[in-house]
Amino acid sequence: MDSIGTETRVDYARVFHQAIDRLHAEGRYRVFIDILRNKGAFPNARCFAGHNGPKPITVWCSNDYLAMGQHPKVIAAMEEALHDVGAGSGGTRNIGGNTHYHVDLEAELADLHGKEAALLFTSGYVSNEATLATMAKILPGCIIFSDELNHASMIAGIRNAGCEKRVFRHNDLAHLEELLAEADPAAPKLIAFESVYSMEGDIAPIAGICDLADRYNALTYLDEVHAVGMYGARGGGISERDAVADRLTIIEGTLGKAFGVMGGYIAADRTIIDVIRSYAPGFIFTTSLSPVLVAGVLASVRHLKSSTAEREGQQAAAAALKAMLRDAGLPVMPGDTHIVPVMVGDPVKAKKISDILLAEYGVYVQPINYPTVPRGTERLRFTPGPAHDEAMMRDLTRALVEIWDRLELRMAA
Ligand SMILES: Cc1ncc(COP(=O)(O)O)c(C=O)c1O
Repeated sequence: MDSIGTETRVDYARVFHQAIDRLHAEGRYRVFIDILRNKGAFPNARCFAGHNGPKPITVWCSNDYLAMGQHPKVIAAMEEALHDVGAGSGGTRNIGGNTHYHVDLEAELADLHGKEAALLFTSGYVSNEATLATMAKILPGCIIFSDELNHASMIAGIRNAGCEKRVFRHNDLAHLEELLAEADPAAPKLIAFESVYSMEGDIAPIAGICDLADRYNALTYLDEVHAVGMYGARGGGISERDAVADRLTIIEGTLGKAFGVMGGYIAADRTIIDVIRSYAPGFIFTTSLSPVLVAGVLASVRHLKSSTAEREGQQAAAAALKAMLRDAGLPVMPGDTHIVPVMVGDPVKAKKISDILLAEYGVYVQPINYPTVPRGTERLRFTPGPAHDEAMMRDLTRALVEIWDRLELRMAA
């Protein structure tokens, strides 16, 4: 057989190198920071990147928002499960991997949101992708109305659904209504949105969206990934805080952020959960979460249903840090949530600030660049939690002011 001539051969290595070079040229090549968190002393951690050994750092960008990843009840539950049933689940939910821990956790999550049932996935990403893609396939002709700032996992689900999609301006009820009114009244409709937008730190008008859903006979899908555990009397999210959970068709959440472990889920009525359980490839064809993880989440969810200390500590820390940074003249973006974004507006500078913070001040915060946020709105995103104390906040503020001065960056207007 003749081999292909050199001139027609695809130069695979060149294509891959060019793809990486493009990221470097735009200043948005991502670098992992190699750390180990110190259990019992988080947000203190050890950093291995670019040093001759572990260097102590303070983590300011973790989504273990309430430090539940080191909570004694969570650790004890995981240890007990590990010694009782071993490490992995050993299968998909349908074939060998449905443990009693999974069943218990689904009941706990359904109760958290006041829904009939819940379904676990291996991550929040998978729950969004699998559910949205499946919903639209089950509803022929479905149109999905999606907030323009929705997370990549929802966008992936909508794309995989292969259905019509209409993107409404962020949190803009008038625009959403305009799009709903234009659509075929007979078409099935689903409005997909988030409660807390984690890069902006703002909150969706959930009740207003539910009113529109009622008016135009649409279903609703709410991603509460950055709110579960943290808002509402029992940690049921913004939909619990605003007493609108019963008006939402599907509530989705993660188990890897405020609950401190790993996994994702949806909660809805029994029939919808049965449909997703029965049709979603992302649920069916994958090994279920380790029972050790599920045991840890169970302890975490149960704890946060009754304890408010973590939520209060987080809100107090966020308010204190925002005030300190604002008083120092730093450009903190407005918002009423636990997220503290500081605008930089340039990917190279955002990375440079983050590099200096880590190398010189022992502060770990990752720059947030495109495509996570729109170009020109690159930022630092701080996530203070109940374990960040005042001294840490003062050190952070001082470091940022010095760097802003050194790099001649714009202070707040
Ligand atoms: C809004 C939103 N939804 C879903 C996810 C995915 O959740 P998980 O990290 O559990 O995959 C994220 C992750 O950051 C997110 O920000």
